[in-house]
Amino acid sequence: MTTLSQDELKTLVGQAALKYVVPGEIVGVGTGSTVNKFIDALASIKDQIKGAVSSSVASTERLQALGIRVFDANEVAELAVYIDGADEIDHQGYMIKGGGAALTREKIVAAQSRQFVCIADDSKLVKTLGTYPLPVEVIPMAAQRVMRQFAAMGAQARLRLRNDAPLVTDNGQHLVDVTGLQISDPLVFEAEVNQWPGVVTVGVFAFQKAQICLLGTVDGVRTLTF
Ligand code: 5RP
Repeated sequence: MTTLSQDELKTLVGQAALKYVVPGEIVGVGTGSTVNKFIDALASIKDQIKGAVSSSVASTERLQALGIRVFDANEVAELAVYIDGADEIDHQGYMIKGGGAALTREKIVAAQSRQFVCIADDSKLVKTLGTYPLPVEVIPMAAQRVMRQFAAMGAQARLRLRNDAPLVTDNGQHLVDVTGLQISDPLVFEAEVNQWPGVVTVGVFAFQKAQICLLGTVDGVRTLTF
């Protein structure tokens, strides 16, 4: 039996997500290597959709390069479906996201969508969120204070760097990545961290959880519904 590589599993779920795209409508598009596979697949049906609302500069550029029209989120009241990856997803559809630094726009587009379809390879499925370093987008002047608040919870927070300087998100903000967490109640955790001064977005997606997860496995695509 030949086993599929992680990259092939991503291609598989990216293609499987086409089934959830509603003809004639605008689709919400996430960010990341799995979503890139979805965008490539979406190009094959681009004449059947109006276009996309994108969650990052990177996805916008990829969509446009393939001839898919990108709408500003403000031009669209509601989207039927949002397709995005995850860094971790649990058995309730709660997720950690933001590994690709796009969590804020991802949460915005997810919030304006009726259905969140998560696409992921099966290494992302976990019992409890928190092994993957939790991304938190912060206003730069609050970074140290937010990191101290995580330290007070017994966790370790680090400023995300790129080329030895703080990474700057599409929104002009910084990111901290937090390890040492076991997020047993994602709704409570998200609500709490959201209200810390200077936090723009916490990478726990509990209020904007997935309703469906297309999980790439050696046996093919498993569909989880939450
Ligand atoms: C980007 C994200 C991505 O969905 C997440 O990082 C998963 O990415 P990949 O598909 O490359 O594993 O949240 O901010």
